[in-house]
Amino acid sequence: MQKYFLTTPIYYVNDKPHIGHAYTTILADTISRYRKLVGDTSFFLTGLDEHGLKVQQAAEKNSKSPQDHCDGMTPAFLNLWKELNIDYDDFIRTTEQRHIEVVQHILSEVNNSGDIYIDEYEGWYSVSEERFITEKEVDSGQFGDVKKLKEKNYFFKMSKYQEELINKIQNDELKIQPESRKNEVLSFLKNNLSDLCISRPKSRLEWGIELPFDKDYVTYVWFDALINYISSIGFSKDSDKFKECWPADVHLIGKDILTTHAVYWPTMLMSIGLPLPKRIFAHGWWLTDSKKMSKSLGNVVSPLALIDDFGVDAVRYYLMSDMVLGMDATFSSQSFEKKYNSDLANDFGNLVSRISKLIENNFDSKIPNFSSNESDLSENYEHIKLSNNLEELKIDKIINDIMNFIRSINIYMEKNEPWKLVKVDKEKAGNVLYHCAESLRLAAILLSPIMPKKTEKILENLGCSDKSLKWGKLLPNSSLKTSEPIFPRIN
Ligand code: MSP
Repeated sequence: MQKYFLTTPIYYVNDKPHIGHAYTTILADTISRYRKLVGDTSFFLTGLDEHGLKVQQAAEKNSKSPQDHCDGMTPAFLNLWKELNIDYDDFIRTTEQRHIEVVQHILSEVNNSGDIYIDEYEGWYSVSEERFITEKEVDSGQFGDVKKLKEKNYFFKMSKYQEELINKIQNDELKIQPESRKNEVLSFLKNNLSDLCISRPKSRLEWGIELPFDKDYVTYVWFDALINYISSIGFSKDSDKFKECWPADVHLIGKDILTTHAVYWPTMLMSIGLPLPKRIFAHGWWLTDSKKMSKSLGNVVSPLALIDDFGVDAVRYYLMSDMVLGMDATFSSQSFEKKYNSDLANDFGNLVSRISKLIENNFDSKIPNFSSNESDLSENYEHIKLSNNLEELKIDKIINDIMNFIRSINIYMEKNEPWKLVKVDKEKAGNVLYHCAESLRLAAILLSPIMPKKTEKILENLGCSDKSLKWGKLLPNSSLKTSEPIFPRIN
């Protein structure tokens, strides 16, 4: 059976992960959980990018061998994913043998097919980007430390696939989203595409995968890293597993790594003769004080500190609801607290307490009976557009729909006043409260991919283990448990 295969970028191990890295991983986790909720099987891959100059330099700085440095950094990522409740299906490190073998296999194949040649090249080299850059890029001044370099290297015939790539992007065979990023790639492809330098002489950089056809060179880190998306799922080794997953349904990336994913990667796949991923989605950046959050600017927010202060589900909720997918978003503790108090403490948390209290006090903590299946709420529930928004990866919209539904439960309570009704018509009051409790159950299930822990608690308190998204699965007469406020206010 075909799986919904989704990936995050693999993160460089030159530094500890921050909110920007956590964001993509939570996004992938959320999408994967939503896929499972609607009945799909999904396969969610993440991992680490361990080769290249940046990692070699970080290791030198710590007086460690690169491998020791990578082994030492890995727990920081694994621990954060555990704290963030990330339920990935595979975690790949590019120093693993299973990856190295596939990279070397592909290099040999591409070389045998005539798509690799050796050439002496003189040009501008960007140290931070670890690649040769064009005159135009030098002039842009965006590439920091730049030097002239003359070197013999191996080149991949990327230019050969330019026309085919343009066609596939134009007709959405490879869908690049949002539309603005698709246009960005197409306008980049209006210029003649150069071939890609895919080697680094060991005399300059040792930390990489050795070229199978020249032991004096290692593989360019991007040519190595991108292959993780297929080495992890058994390309050239386990054809059943590979067929279940490839082509990927979506590569989730940040907007700064668009060209590598939308140009290098597809042309590599064309050369190997593999289908292209169905979709690449480039999200925006998390900014602090209008600048991209990054270690070098010293403005990073630590996800672990936030989890300590507010709990993991609140962090997941904030990151998923506050970024309109595709756009940049600004992180600030004020906006975090505001969102937490208004959405989670007020709208959702208070409602849970209010409904539980009313059932506890008037119905002996038993879910009341309903006399009708219809209400404003069962109707409102139908307005939540989960499938369409999930297909478009609009997680912020999904949350918005659910929160509107939750607000409509509050409105329904105000309109029907079950606390007064119970004194004159207990059956009617019971019906109202049943509809409220059933709506809470559905809201909790719908929010479970975002906040797995808190929603589990709510469902447990409702005494309901049925995770069905069908209206009316909450059983009358089942026992309700009350607990401390689910989302205590932050002052
Ligand atoms: N190793 C490469 C990716 C190789 S994928 C085959 C890489 N690593 S990275 O650690 O530098 O960045 C990983 C991801 O984190 C990128 O998608 C990048 O956009 C994202 N982010 C880094 N800082 C970010 C923010 N401030 N906000 C949101 N995401 C950002 O690039």
